[in-house]
Amino acid sequence: MTPIDAISKGHDCVEDDANRRGNVMNLRKILPVLLFFLFGGIFVSVGSGVAHQESSSSMFGNGTFEIAGMRVPDIGPLPTAVPTPPMNLNYKSKTKLGEQLFFDGRLSRNGAISCAFCHTPGLGFADPKQVSIGVGGKQGGRQAPTVYNTGFNPVQFWDGRAGSLEEQAIGPIINPVEMAETHENVVNKLNQIKGYVEQFQAVFGTTVNMQGIAEAIAAYERTIISTNSAFDKYVLGDKAAMSEEAQWGMALFKGKARCILCHNGSNFTDNKFHNLGVPQVGPMKEDLGRYYVTRRPEDTGAFKTPTLRSIIETAPYMHDGAFKTLEEVVDFIDAGGGANQNLSPLMKPLGLSVAEKTELIAFLHALTGEEIPFKFPELPE
Ligand code: HEC
Ligand code: HEC
Repeated sequence: MTPIDAISKGHDCVEDDANRRGNVMNLRKILPVLLFFLFGGIFVSVGSGVAHQESSSSMFGNGTFEIAGMRVPDIGPLPTAVPTPPMNLNYKSKTKLGEQLFFDGRLSRNGAISCAFCHTPGLGFADPKQVSIGVGGKQGGRQAPTVYNTGFNPVQFWDGRAGSLEEQAIGPIINPVEMAETHENVVNKLNQIKGYVEQFQAVFGTTVNMQGIAEAIAAYERTIISTNSAFDKYVLGDKAAMSEEAQWGMALFKGKARCILCHNGSNFTDNKFHNLGVPQVGPMKEDLGRYYVTRRPEDTGAFKTPTLRSIIETAPYMHDGAFKTLEEVVDFIDAGGGANQNLSPLMKPLGLSVAEKTELIAFLHALTGEEIPFKFPELPE
C-alpha cells in the first residue's frame, strides 16, 4: 500500500476554491470616520486556481474530504491569486507604499517599532519571542502569528476580532502594548514626510490618511505568500517533490492523526475557533480567546486555527507561544490536547507511534513555501 492508498476515499471534485471563496464576507464598520470600510464586501478573486486544478490529481485540492463523519475542504495547492476586495485592488505603487509603511518605525510612538519588528521577514514574518514586546518594552499577551497568507483568511487575530486586513492594519498602531501611537499623530507625522506625501498623492490623490495607510499595508500583505512548497509540487503532479516519509505523514494528517478536521483547505485552516486546552503561559493569567468577541460561553478559550504553511519558520507555537517545537505540539495533540472544561469535541487521544510522529513532522516540513526574495525597502524622508 502506498501513502496515497492509505488516504481514505471520498473526494468530490467541486468548484475550485477561488470561485467558492467568492462569496459574501461581511466587513464590519470599525470607525465611523472610516466609512470606507463599509464596502459590505463581495470579495472577488482576480484570476483563479483553475490552471492548478487541471493539472492536479483528482485526489487533491479544491474538493472535499470526509473524515470522522464530517465533510471538510480538502488540503490542496494554494490558488494562484489572492482574494482581493474590489475596494482595494492591488497595484504596484500601492503595494510599494504599503511595504514602506510596514517597515517604518515612525508609525509608532517611539519611532522604533514597525510592523516588521514583530512580523519579521527571514523569521517567517512572525516573532520568535514567546510574546511580543512593543513600545517601552511593554509585553503583549499573545504570540505574533505569521503574516504569510493572511490575505487568504477571512478573519484576523487569534480571536478573529478583525475581518479584513484593512481593518486589522490600523489596530497595532494604537495598541498600547504594540505601537502605542494615535491615528492623529501618525497621520500628522507622515504628512511631514515629503516622500509619503508625494506617494499618497500619486496613489490615492489625497494627503496621508488612515484609510490610505490601511489600504496600502493590506495590499502589501497580500503579496506575502507562502506557496510552491514541496507539498504543492507533489499535489500538482511532481511525485518526487515530497519524501516518502512526508507522504506517509500526509496520510496520517488526513487519517489517523485527524489534523485535517481543522487544518483544511488550501491554506490549512478552517478559519474557525477551537479550544485545544493549550496551557496558558506568559503574562496573561487567562485568555478567553474567541469569547471576548462573541460572548458565547462555548467560545471560551477557543482560538483561530492557524495556517500550517511555512510552519517550521514560525516557532514558538500556539496563541501564547506555549510550545517551542513541532515535536511538543504533536505530542500535545497526540495526547488529545490539554485538560479543559471547554475542550473541543474534535480532540481525542490519537495513539501515534514515535515513527508516525516523525512522519507527520516531515509532512509539516514539506509545507515550507518558496523563499520570498527580500530587500529592506528604502524609507522616504
Ligand atoms: C509589538 C509587536 C507587534 C507589532 C508592532 C505588530 N504586530 Fe501584528 N500581531 C502581533 C500579535 C501579538 C498579534 C496577535 C494578536 C492577537 O491575536 O490578539 C498580531 C496579529 C497580526 C495579524 C493577524 C494574523 C492572523 O493570522 O490572525 C496581522 C495581519 C498583523 N498582526 C499585521 C500587523 C501589521 C500590518 C502591523 C503594523 C501596522 C503589525 N501587525 C504590528 C504583534 C505585533
Ligand atoms: C480541533 C481542531 C484541530 C485539530 C484536530 C488540530 N489542530 Fe492544530 N491547531 C488548532 C488550533 C485552534 C490551534 C491554535 C490553538 C491555540 O493557540 O490555543 C492549533 C495550533 C497548531 C499548531 C501551532 C501553529 C502556530 O502557528 O502556532 C500546529 C503546528 C498544529 N496545530 C498542528 C496540528 C497537527 C499536526 C494536527 C494533527 C495531529 C492538528 N494540529 C490538529 C486546531 C486543530
